Amino acid sequence: MLYAMNKSLALQASNLSKTFRLGAQELQVLQGINLSLPQSSSLSIRGESGCGKTTLLNLLARIEQADQGELTWGDRVMRCDRSASRDEVAHRASFLGVVYQAYYLIPEIDVLENVTLPAKISREFDASVQDRARSLLDQMGVGNRITQIPGKLSGGERQRVAIARALLNRPKVLLADEPTGNLDERTGEEVMNLLLRACSEEGTSLILVTHNLAFARATDRQTFLSEGRLNEV
Ligand SMILES: Nc1ncnc2c1ncn2[C@@H]1O[C@H](COP(=O)(O)OP(=O)(O)O)[C@@H](O)[C@H]1O
Ligand SMILES: [Mg+2]
Repeated sequence: MLYAMNKSLALQASNLSKTFRLGAQELQVLQGINLSLPQSSSLSIRGESGCGKTTLLNLLARIEQADQGELTWGDRVMRCDRSASRDEVAHRASFLGVVYQAYYLIPEIDVLENVTLPAKISREFDASVQDRARSLLDQMGVGNRITQIPGKLSGGERQRVAIARALLNRPKVLLADEPTGNLDERTGEEVMNLLLRACSEEGTSLILVTHNLAFARATDRQTFLSEGRLNEV
């Protein structure tokens, strides 16, 4: 059981299960997942391809619906048996940041506009937002690229921008799904160090999915997902 009792929690999930149904076929991907993430802490998840890591992050983010279970964001109990409503999307944009393997920057707009996007979604856009975005981009070492469009950036630079975007709204929790999966070893290490340092400085709790053992060990707690269950290692 991955419970931590004494510290206030950024996120908690209990007994989350998920089965995909494809016609008559059923694929039970997650079975009774329990996870608790203290504030300002980090946790890594490893596991074979296809074991359900992305599905688990999608349930925690309420992008996908669980079959059953309970989910708490901060002290707020969330519905996990349906995906977020339109109103809840604004709340999600301030509670949660997500970083994906494939960056998912918007190609038509420049770096600064990409990074300020979450403030528009959470409806907290004001003059301070651009300063916040610039400061995060500086922290990520890409402060000199703000007027570029993503297509002009290297993979490592794109991921640095995506991390700045994910942190813009000062989320309580950041979910990172194989964030260095598309990067070469050295670039991946640089980006991972920046990610870990930024989360720690910002007091953002991190759930990191990675295949890299060294990166996994850099988090406060390490887990392994296998046969639908999450075990601390
Ligand atoms: N929307 C979906 N519909 C049906 N099956 C899915 C869907 N999403 C994922 N799966 C299946 O669930 C399993 C877990 O997928 P995923 O969570 O992406 O694994 P991982 O991220 O660990 O590689 C895989 O067998 C995958 O094919
Ligand atoms: Mg995945």
